[in-house]
Amino acid sequence: MAGFKLSAGVGLLGLAASALAAPAPVYSEPTTTFSVPKVTAPVEPVTNVTSHGPYTGPPPTTTGALSTTVLAPSIPALPPGPDAFKYPSDGQLHAPQPAPYTPAGGVGTNGSAPVYKMLSDFDYQSIALALYQEWIELDLFHWGLDRFSVEDFEKAGLTAEDRHLIEYMANQEVGHATLLSNMLGPSAPNQCNYNYPAMNVHEYIDFCQKVTRYGEAGVYGFLNHLNAHDVGQMLLQSITTEARQQMIFRQFEGLFPTPEWFQVGIPQSWAWTLLAPYISSCPANNTRLVWQNYPALHILNQPNPFRINGSNVWNETTDGGYANTAAYRDIEENDDCTKTNATGVSCAPAISRNRSMPLSYPGRQVFLEWDEPGKPIGPNNSYVTDTQAGAPKFAAWVSQLNVTYSPLEDIKGNSAYTVQPDVSTFDGNPAINGTIFLVLTDEDLYVTPFNLTQLNPHVYAVGMYQSG
Ligand SMILES: *[C@@H]1O[C@H](CO)[C@@H](O)[C@H](O)[C@H]1NC(C)=O
Ligand SMILES: *[C@@H]1O[C@H](CO)[C@@H](O)[C@H](O)[C@H]1NC(C)=O
Ligand SMILES: *[C@@H]1O[C@H](CO)[C@@H](O)[C@H](O)[C@H]1NC(C)=O
Ligand SMILES: *[C@@H]1O[C@H](CO)[C@@H](O)[C@H](O)[C@H]1NC(C)=O
Ligand SMILES: *[C@@H]1O[C@H](CO)[C@@H](O)[C@H](O)[C@H]1NC(C)=O
Ligand SMILES: *[C@@H]1O[C@H](CO)[C@@H](O)[C@H](O)[C@H]1NC(C)=O
Ligand SMILES: *[C@@H]1O[C@H](CO)[C@@H](O)[C@H](O)[C@H]1NC(C)=O
Ligand SMILES: *[C@@H]1O[C@H](CO)[C@@H](O)[C@H](O)[C@H]1NC(C)=O
Ligand SMILES: *[C@@H]1O[C@H](CO)[C@@H](O)[C@H](O)[C@H]1NC(C)=O
Ligand SMILES: *[C@@H]1O[C@H](CO)[C@@H](O)[C@H](O)[C@H]1NC(C)=O
Ligand SMILES: *[C@@H]1O[C@H](CO)[C@@H](O)[C@H](O)[C@H]1NC(C)=O
Repeated sequence: MAGFKLSAGVGLLGLAASALAAPAPVYSEPTTTFSVPKVTAPVEPVTNVTSHGPYTGPPPTTTGALSTTVLAPSIPALPPGPDAFKYPSDGQLHAPQPAPYTPAGGVGTNGSAPVYKMLSDFDYQSIALALYQEWIELDLFHWGLDRFSVEDFEKAGLTAEDRHLIEYMANQEVGHATLLSNMLGPSAPNQCNYNYPAMNVHEYIDFCQKVTRYGEAGVYGFLNHLNAHDVGQMLLQSITTEARQQMIFRQFEGLFPTPEWFQVGIPQSWAWTLLAPYISSCPANNTRLVWQNYPALHILNQPNPFRINGSNVWNETTDGGYANTAAYRDIEENDDCTKTNATGVSCAPAISRNRSMPLSYPGRQVFLEWDEPGKPIGPNNSYVTDTQAGAPKFAAWVSQLNVTYSPLEDIKGNSAYTVQPDVSTFDGNPAINGTIFLVLTDEDLYVTPFNLTQLNPHVYAVGMYQSG
């Protein structure tokens, strides 16, 4: 049979419609509120975590990441796949259409019903990681509302409406945790107990801004590698909400909301590295993860968004390493940008802020220190930091679409400095701006957004850098 003719189909439909006598349209004043059935779905039961602080229990009985037979130390780099250049990207159609207005190809387009279930260990471990992330955010957002008084928030320029937004974001996390738990099934990891650095409201907002950044970036890193594209669709529709949360926390911090043209993605092991230090303990049977915990990278002159001249800073973080959260406690009134409304200077909460003195800039000398592997970390101290890399030689600036290396200089033991490179994704868009990732590597391996994980065997330490 010849191909189904699109024009014929359209003609038939048109004929059928116009053959009916057109009834008068229903226009009237909407005076009635109709009673409609309520349609909803139950959420995962959540209890507010009441205990916070470091883990003090007995040594764990199980240690290290989940593992099975390991076939090779790394995945060899290969040339592009056989079909990579096959499709002529010329704007023409190259195959019969499966249906009207429907081009051939795509994944999950053949009519099979989506089932939203994991299809591989990769899928399970990635979604379980995302669930650990949703759980910490749920707790973190509640914790701040509980921990700080109304007066504390008001002093930091955050109103009752702003606090309502934080509460609302916590509720969004309940939805995300429910969705991911449902897709994982009964073995889905449960909520844990957490240990946050000592914080005031400003530091809390900076911490939230950084936690949501690695949460968001952690998902972008694996989303398009999932076997289960139907699961990926659900996750995508949650992570775009998370991305908005990240931007809102930047606005609460008086930072430019989105200084990037592209949001960065990172490998799962980097996200787990940044998340695990803030989990103190998990329930006894909680599902464990396969991902690596890297040693911490400490940024000794991490730019401080609460300073008028944010790059003029030394050793001013609350957690020393990993997220490298900004400390607010030691800033003198004259240097404090939260206390002014002056354009170009102020970092009081706002929809957008211009900062006339950049937090960081190409050519800035950045002083670094890093930990050795072998440190117990994460839930019940039951994971152990590890690296397969040789001695660190480069800092990799991972932002937007780019991984840019700068050599480590003056390496003394576990410290060195490096100089911020001058790189743009595209003309007019400095790549290094916003909340980015800085990792130490033993090699300046060329990687791009879809194969960034290939860098993992060369990574020595992981941290976040506040470049704008
Ligand atoms: C958890 O804490 C938040 C904020 O303090 C509160 O609004 C909420 O009702 C609490 N939830 C439960 C289940 O206790
Ligand atoms: C349709 O695609 C799915 C994968 O998305 C595959 O499992 C299934 O076998 C395909 N069905 C047919 C009829 O080709
Ligand atoms: C752990 O135990 C709780 C309570 O018995 C159960 O609800 C949950 O499904 C278990 N989790 C896993 C990962 O087995
Ligand atoms: C981790 O610590 C918590 C709190 O002390 C405890 O309830 C749990 O059983 C511990 N988990 C493991 C795997 O030992
Ligand atoms: C800001 O601090 C940097 C040091 O990090 C210094 O070089 C610069 O001159 C300062 N800018 C102003 C305007 O004070
Ligand atoms: C940074 O400050 C902490 C305490 O606030 C101190 O223990 C540490 O030695 C300092 N590090 C450097 C490199 O100055
Ligand atoms: C900034 O201006 C707003 C509106 O005039 C005012 O409510 C607020 O207190 C000012 N903030 C500071 C830090 O001066
Ligand atoms: C904000 O910064 C941009 C770019 O640096 C500049 O063009 C603009 O004039 C600034 N606006 C204000 C109000 O400072
Ligand atoms: C970062 O982005 C902000 C907002 O667009 C801009 O004002 C600033 O100049 C940028 N910083 C650098 C170092 O390019
Ligand atoms: C940054 O990424 C863009 C997009 O992939 C690429 O065109 C550009 O060459 C990269 N720049 C550098 C310096 O690697
Ligand atoms: C990553 O992908 C790029 C192409 O986008 C390729 O040139 C590079 O060799 C790959 N790197 C590794 C380590 O596989």
